Amino acid sequence: MLRIAVLNGPNLNMLGIREPGVYGSETLAGIEAMVKSRADELGVQLSFFQTNHEGAMIDRIQGAYGQEDGIIINPGAWTHYSYAIRDALSAVALPVVEVHLSNIHKREAFRHHSVVAAVAVGQIAGFGAQGYLMALDALHRTLGRDSSND
Ligand code: DQA
Repeated sequence: MLRIAVLNGPNLNMLGIREPGVYGSETLAGIEAMVKSRADELGVQLSFFQTNHEGAMIDRIQGAYGQEDGIIINPGAWTHYSYAIRDALSAVALPVVEVHLSNIHKREAFRHHSVVAAVAVGQIAGFGAQGYLMALDALHRTLGRDSSND
């Protein structure tokens, strides 16, 4: 069974309360339940993690090494400046899909650049909570393609 980590960075525990006009009214628990039901259909085992602490996220990413097959991550604001998160993702060398609820490219200039994107298979931004489902489908297909090449 494929194992995928679904990781959320700082302030994403505030979804539902935080700027609903930008991030939608769905809570993180609601998003996780939605993604889990799709994963059950696909036969994928998910592990969810959210933290506001960069070191805790780095530890969690490192913990995926040898334990999981891929990572879906919304790094929140770390996206834009955390070389440590990027290096952790690079170190474990697992396929990564980067997700953002909002379209970071049409927001403030500081959100336009992602230091994570270069170590990701791809980035999904601007589709709200649906983006996590799209990321799951994308990663599932990517992993399927990888294993069929073995
Ligand atoms: C975000 C976009 C980031 O710029 C922001 O700091 C977040 C959420 C998104 O999901 O749209 O915390 O990653």
